[in-house]
Amino acid sequence: MEKRTRLKLISEMPILKAFADNWENVVQFQAKADDLLICTYPKSGTTWMSEIVDLIRNGGETEKSQNKAIFDRVPFLECVGSTMPSGTELLDKLDFRRVIKTHLPISILPETFLEKNCKVIYVARNPKDVAVSYYHFYRMSYRHPEPGTWDEFLNSFMEGKVSFGSWSSHVKGWWKMRQQRDILYLFYEDMQEDPRREIKKVMKFLGKDLSDEVLEKIHQNSSFQAMKNNPMSNFSTYPYMDQSVSPFMRKGICGDWKNQFTVCQNEKFDEYYRREMSDTDLSFRM
Ligand code: A3P
Repeated sequence: MEKRTRLKLISEMPILKAFADNWENVVQFQAKADDLLICTYPKSGTTWMSEIVDLIRNGGETEKSQNKAIFDRVPFLECVGSTMPSGTELLDKLDFRRVIKTHLPISILPETFLEKNCKVIYVARNPKDVAVSYYHFYRMSYRHPEPGTWDEFLNSFMEGKVSFGSWSSHVKGWWKMRQQRDILYLFYEDMQEDPRREIKKVMKFLGKDLSDEVLEKIHQNSSFQAMKNNPMSNFSTYPYMDQSVSPFMRKGICGDWKNQFTVCQNEKFDEYYRREMSDTDLSFRM
Protein backbone atom coordinates (compact mmCIF):
# COMPACT_ATOMS: atom_id res chain seq x y z
CA MET A 1 0.00 0.00 0.00
CA GLU A 2 1.37 3.40 -0.94
CA LYS A 3 1.83 5.87 1.83
CA ARG A 4 1.14 9.52 2.45
CA THR A 5 4.08 11.61 1.29
CA ARG A 6 4.88 15.29 1.20
CA LEU A 7 4.02 17.21 -1.95
CA LYS A 8 6.79 18.14 -4.36
CA LEU A 9 7.09 21.29 -6.46
CA ILE A 10 6.87 21.42 -10.26
CA SER A 11 7.44 24.98 -11.50
CA GLU A 12 6.50 26.18 -8.01
CA MET A 13 3.24 24.19 -8.03
CA PRO A 14 2.83 21.53 -5.31
CA ILE A 15 1.84 18.11 -6.63
CA LEU A 16 1.87 14.49 -5.41
CA LYS A 17 5.43 13.22 -5.19
CA ALA A 18 4.71 10.30 -7.55
CA PHE A 19 3.33 12.71 -10.16
CA ALA A 20 6.34 15.01 -9.79
CA ASP A 21 8.74 12.09 -10.20
CA ASN A 22 6.96 11.17 -13.46
CA TRP A 23 6.83 14.75 -14.77
CA GLU A 24 9.27 14.15 -17.65
CA ASN A 25 6.75 11.79 -19.28
CA VAL A 26 4.08 14.48 -19.11
CA VAL A 27 6.42 17.05 -20.66
CA GLN A 28 7.25 14.66 -23.50
CA PHE A 29 3.62 13.69 -24.16
CA GLN A 30 2.45 14.27 -27.74
CA ALA A 31 -1.09 15.57 -28.18
CA LYS A 32 -3.20 14.91 -31.27
CA ALA A 33 -5.46 17.46 -32.92
CA ASP A 34 -8.60 15.48 -32.08
CA ASP A 35 -7.76 15.15 -28.38
CA LEU A 36 -10.31 16.66 -26.03
CA LEU A 37 -9.07 17.94 -22.68
CA ILE A 38 -11.28 18.04 -19.61
CA CYS A 39 -9.53 20.42 -17.32
CA THR A 40 -10.38 21.36 -13.76
CA TYR A 41 -8.98 22.33 -10.42
CA PRO A 42 -9.47 19.16 -8.29
CA LYS A 43 -12.94 18.49 -6.86
CA SER A 44 -14.73 20.75 -9.33
CA GLY A 45 -16.78 18.16 -11.23
CA THR A 46 -14.12 16.45 -13.35
CA THR A 47 -15.63 12.98 -13.07
CA TRP A 48 -19.12 14.27 -13.73
CA MET A 49 -17.98 16.04 -16.92
CA SER A 50 -15.95 12.99 -17.97
CA GLU A 51 -19.04 10.81 -17.70
CA ILE A 52 -21.14 13.32 -19.65
CA VAL A 53 -18.59 13.57 -22.47
CA ASP A 54 -18.19 9.80 -22.63
CA LEU A 55 -21.96 9.33 -22.78
CA ILE A 56 -22.29 11.96 -25.52
CA ARG A 57 -19.54 10.25 -27.52
CA ASN A 58 -21.48 6.98 -27.16
CA GLY A 59 -24.85 8.43 -28.08
CA GLY A 60 -26.18 7.95 -24.54
CA GLU A 61 -25.51 4.21 -24.58
CA THR A 62 -24.11 2.84 -21.31
CA GLU A 63 -22.38 -0.26 -22.62
CA LYS A 64 -18.94 1.31 -22.22
CA SER A 65 -19.66 3.37 -19.13
CA GLN A 66 -20.77 0.23 -17.31
CA ASN A 67 -17.91 -1.96 -18.43
CA LYS A 68 -14.82 0.20 -18.20
CA ALA A 69 -13.75 2.40 -15.32
CA ILE A 70 -13.93 6.13 -15.81
CA PHE A 71 -10.18 6.46 -15.19
CA ASP A 72 -9.56 4.13 -18.15
CA ARG A 73 -12.17 5.74 -20.40
CA VAL A 74 -10.82 9.22 -19.63
CA PRO A 75 -7.16 8.82 -18.64
CA PHE A 76 -5.67 11.30 -16.20
CA LEU A 77 -2.65 12.82 -17.97
CA GLU A 78 -0.33 13.46 -15.02
CA CYS A 79 -1.41 10.47 -12.93
CA VAL A 80 0.94 7.64 -12.07
CA GLY A 81 0.93 4.84 -9.51
CA SER A 82 2.97 1.76 -8.82
CA THR A 83 0.14 -0.70 -9.44
CA MET A 84 -1.43 0.75 -12.57
CA PRO A 85 -0.40 2.19 -15.94
CA SER A 86 0.29 5.91 -15.89
CA GLY A 87 -1.97 8.40 -17.66
CA THR A 88 0.48 8.87 -20.50
CA GLU A 89 0.89 5.08 -20.92
CA LEU A 90 -2.88 4.64 -21.16
CA LEU A 91 -3.16 7.52 -23.60
CA ASP A 92 -0.35 6.29 -25.82
CA LYS A 93 -2.39 3.11 -26.38
CA LEU A 94 -5.44 5.02 -27.61
CA ASP A 95 -5.46 5.83 -31.30
CA PHE A 96 -7.89 8.65 -31.82
CA ARG A 97 -10.55 10.90 -30.27
CA ARG A 98 -8.94 10.66 -26.87
CA VAL A 99 -10.62 12.34 -23.92
CA ILE A 100 -7.99 13.42 -21.41
CA LYS A 101 -8.41 14.55 -17.82
CA THR A 102 -5.96 17.02 -16.38
CA HIS A 103 -5.73 19.26 -13.33
CA LEU A 104 -2.82 21.28 -14.68
CA PRO A 105 -3.01 25.05 -14.59
CA ILE A 106 -2.62 26.70 -18.00
CA SER A 107 0.82 27.98 -16.97
CA ILE A 108 2.33 24.49 -17.00
CA LEU A 109 0.12 22.68 -19.49
CA PRO A 110 2.47 21.01 -22.01
CA GLU A 111 2.78 23.20 -25.14
CA THR A 112 1.75 20.29 -27.35
CA PHE A 113 -1.94 20.80 -26.50
CA LEU A 114 -1.80 24.44 -27.61
CA GLU A 115 0.25 23.64 -30.72
CA LYS A 116 -2.35 21.06 -31.78
CA ASN A 117 -5.19 23.44 -30.91
CA CYS A 118 -6.98 20.78 -28.86
CA LYS A 119 -10.48 21.50 -27.66
CA VAL A 120 -10.79 22.08 -23.93
CA ILE A 121 -13.74 21.83 -21.57
CA TYR A 122 -12.97 23.62 -18.32
CA VAL A 123 -15.19 23.12 -15.27
CA ALA A 124 -14.95 25.50 -12.33
CA ARG A 125 -16.65 25.27 -8.95
CA ASN A 126 -17.05 27.76 -6.12
CA PRO A 127 -14.00 27.60 -3.88
CA LYS A 128 -15.83 27.05 -0.60
CA ASP A 129 -17.36 23.79 -1.82
CA VAL A 130 -14.08 22.88 -3.52
CA ALA A 131 -12.18 23.32 -0.26
CA VAL A 132 -14.64 21.13 1.68
CA SER A 133 -14.68 18.45 -1.00
CA TYR A 134 -10.88 18.55 -1.22
CA TYR A 135 -10.51 18.18 2.54
CA HIS A 136 -12.58 14.99 2.56
CA PHE A 137 -10.70 13.80 -0.54
CA TYR A 138 -7.35 14.32 1.21
CA ARG A 139 -8.64 12.22 4.10
CA MET A 140 -9.57 9.25 1.91
CA SER A 141 -7.05 9.50 -0.94
CA TYR A 142 -4.10 8.43 1.08
CA ARG A 143 -1.26 9.33 -1.26
CA HIS A 144 -1.88 12.95 -0.25
CA PRO A 145 -0.19 14.42 2.82
CA GLU A 146 -2.21 14.30 6.05
CA PRO A 147 -4.80 17.06 5.72
CA GLY A 148 -4.51 18.04 9.41
CA THR A 149 -7.57 19.60 10.99
CA TRP A 150 -10.18 21.24 8.78
CA ASP A 151 -8.93 24.65 9.89
CA GLU A 152 -5.34 23.76 9.00
CA PHE A 153 -6.42 22.39 5.64
CA LEU A 154 -8.46 25.50 4.84
CA ASN A 155 -5.44 27.67 5.56
CA SER A 156 -3.27 25.51 3.29
CA PHE A 157 -5.92 25.81 0.59
CA MET A 158 -5.98 29.60 0.84
CA GLU A 159 -2.17 29.66 0.72
CA GLY A 160 -2.15 27.45 -2.39
CA LYS A 161 -0.19 24.82 -0.50
CA VAL A 162 -2.33 21.88 -1.60
CA SER A 163 -1.88 19.58 -4.58
CA PHE A 164 -2.21 21.58 -7.84
CA GLY A 165 -1.60 24.80 -5.97
CA SER A 166 -3.64 27.96 -6.01
CA TRP A 167 -7.34 27.61 -6.82
CA SER A 168 -7.64 31.25 -7.89
CA SER A 169 -4.66 31.17 -10.27
CA HIS A 170 -6.11 28.02 -11.83
CA VAL A 171 -9.62 29.33 -12.51
CA LYS A 172 -8.38 32.79 -13.55
CA GLY A 173 -5.64 31.46 -15.82
CA TRP A 174 -8.01 29.28 -17.80
CA TRP A 175 -10.68 32.01 -17.80
CA LYS A 176 -8.24 34.39 -19.49
CA MET A 177 -7.21 31.73 -21.99
CA ARG A 178 -10.78 31.06 -23.07
CA GLN A 179 -10.80 34.24 -25.17
CA GLN A 180 -7.93 33.06 -27.33
CA ARG A 181 -8.65 29.35 -27.58
CA ASP A 182 -11.35 26.80 -28.24
CA ILE A 183 -12.39 26.50 -24.60
CA LEU A 184 -15.84 25.78 -23.21
CA TYR A 185 -15.79 27.20 -19.69
CA LEU A 186 -18.54 25.78 -17.49
CA PHE A 187 -19.55 25.95 -13.84
CA TYR A 188 -20.48 23.12 -11.48
CA GLU A 189 -23.25 25.30 -10.02
CA ASP A 190 -24.81 25.74 -13.49
CA MET A 191 -24.63 21.98 -14.04
CA GLN A 192 -26.52 21.50 -10.79
CA GLU A 193 -29.07 24.17 -11.65
CA ASP A 194 -29.96 22.83 -15.10
CA PRO A 195 -27.99 19.74 -16.14
CA ARG A 196 -29.83 19.34 -19.47
CA ARG A 197 -28.95 22.91 -20.48
CA GLU A 198 -25.28 22.37 -19.67
CA ILE A 199 -25.17 18.95 -21.37
CA LYS A 200 -26.59 20.64 -24.49
CA LYS A 201 -23.73 23.17 -24.39
CA VAL A 202 -21.25 20.29 -24.31
CA MET A 203 -23.05 18.52 -27.18
CA LYS A 204 -22.91 21.69 -29.27
CA PHE A 205 -19.23 22.20 -28.46
CA LEU A 206 -18.51 18.64 -29.61
CA GLY A 207 -20.58 19.14 -32.77
CA LYS A 208 -23.17 16.54 -31.73
CA ASP A 209 -26.81 17.03 -32.55
CA LEU A 210 -28.51 14.34 -30.47
CA SER A 211 -32.24 13.81 -29.96
CA ASP A 212 -34.09 14.82 -26.80
CA GLU A 213 -34.45 11.14 -26.01
CA VAL A 214 -30.67 10.66 -26.07
CA LEU A 215 -30.20 13.87 -24.07
CA GLU A 216 -32.49 12.44 -21.42
CA LYS A 217 -30.51 9.19 -21.31
CA ILE A 218 -27.28 11.15 -20.86
CA HIS A 219 -28.89 13.22 -18.14
CA GLN A 220 -30.17 10.16 -16.27
CA ASN A 221 -26.95 8.19 -16.56
CA SER A 222 -24.76 11.06 -15.41
CA SER A 223 -26.88 11.93 -12.38
CA PHE A 224 -25.17 11.81 -8.99
CA GLN A 225 -27.15 8.75 -7.94
CA ALA A 226 -26.55 6.84 -11.17
CA MET A 227 -22.83 7.53 -10.99
CA LYS A 228 -22.65 6.70 -7.28
CA ASN A 229 -24.29 3.35 -8.03
CA ASN A 230 -22.07 2.62 -11.03
CA PRO A 231 -18.86 0.84 -9.92
CA MET A 232 -17.25 2.03 -13.16
CA SER A 233 -17.84 5.68 -12.24
CA ASN A 234 -17.61 5.78 -8.45
CA PHE A 235 -13.90 4.93 -8.22
CA SER A 236 -14.62 1.81 -6.14
CA THR A 237 -12.16 -0.10 -8.34
CA TYR A 238 -9.43 2.51 -7.96
CA PRO A 239 -6.44 1.81 -5.75
CA TYR A 240 -5.12 4.50 -3.37
CA MET A 241 -8.49 5.45 -1.91
CA ASP A 242 -10.20 4.35 1.29
CA GLN A 243 -13.85 4.95 0.62
CA SER A 244 -14.79 3.85 4.13
CA VAL A 245 -13.21 7.12 5.32
CA SER A 246 -15.23 9.22 2.84
CA PRO A 247 -16.84 8.09 -0.42
CA PHE A 248 -15.53 9.51 -3.68
CA MET A 249 -19.12 10.31 -4.70
CA ARG A 250 -19.62 12.13 -1.42
CA LYS A 251 -22.60 14.53 -1.49
CA GLY A 252 -22.69 16.13 -4.92
CA ILE A 253 -24.50 19.28 -3.83
CA CYS A 254 -23.96 23.04 -3.87
CA GLY A 255 -23.48 24.87 -0.59
CA ASP A 256 -22.22 22.01 1.56
CA TRP A 257 -19.59 24.49 2.81
CA LYS A 258 -22.28 25.90 5.10
CA ASN A 259 -22.09 22.65 7.10
CA GLN A 260 -18.32 22.91 7.48
CA PHE A 261 -17.22 26.55 7.75
CA THR A 262 -17.39 28.39 11.05
CA VAL A 263 -18.51 32.04 10.94
CA CYS A 264 -14.91 33.10 11.52
CA GLN A 265 -13.54 30.83 8.77
CA ASN A 266 -16.17 32.17 6.40
CA GLU A 267 -15.21 35.79 7.08
CA LYS A 268 -11.57 35.00 6.52
CA PHE A 269 -12.38 33.11 3.33
CA ASP A 270 -14.54 35.95 1.98
CA GLU A 271 -11.59 38.25 2.51
CA TYR A 272 -9.32 35.80 0.64
CA TYR A 273 -11.87 35.54 -2.19
CA ARG A 274 -12.21 39.33 -2.52
CA ARG A 275 -8.45 39.77 -2.61
CA GLU A 276 -7.80 36.98 -5.11
CA MET A 277 -10.66 37.85 -7.44
CA SER A 278 -10.23 41.63 -7.49
CA ASP A 279 -8.40 41.55 -10.82
CA THR A 280 -10.88 39.47 -12.84
CA ASP A 281 -14.45 39.62 -14.14
CA LEU A 282 -14.85 35.94 -13.28
CA SER A 283 -17.22 35.36 -10.37
CA PHE A 284 -18.75 32.42 -8.52
CA ARG A 285 -22.10 31.60 -6.99
CA MET A 286 -21.59 30.18 -3.52
P1 A3P B 1 -18.44 16.49 -3.15
O1 A3P B 1 -17.21 16.03 -2.45
O2 A3P B 1 -18.81 17.90 -2.79
O3 A3P B 1 -19.59 15.55 -3.01
P2 A3P B 1 -13.93 15.65 -9.10
O4 A3P B 1 -14.54 14.65 -9.99
O5 A3P B 1 -13.43 16.87 -9.80
O6 A3P B 1 -12.91 15.03 -8.19
O7 A3P B 1 -15.09 16.23 -8.18
C1 A3P B 1 -15.68 15.45 -7.20
C2 A3P B 1 -16.90 16.17 -6.68
O8 A3P B 1 -17.92 16.14 -7.70
C3 A3P B 1 -17.49 15.51 -5.45
O9 A3P B 1 -18.10 16.56 -4.71
C4 A3P B 1 -18.52 14.58 -6.10
O10 A3P B 1 -19.52 14.12 -5.22
C5 A3P B 1 -19.07 15.49 -7.18
N1 A3P B 1 -19.77 14.77 -8.26
C6 A3P B 1 -19.32 13.71 -8.96
N2 A3P B 1 -20.26 13.30 -9.84
C7 A3P B 1 -21.32 14.11 -9.68
C8 A3P B 1 -22.61 14.19 -10.30
N3 A3P B 1 -23.00 13.34 -11.23
N4 A3P B 1 -23.45 15.17 -9.89
C9 A3P B 1 -23.07 16.04 -8.93
N5 A3P B 1 -21.88 16.01 -8.31
C10 A3P B 1 -21.00 15.06 -8.68
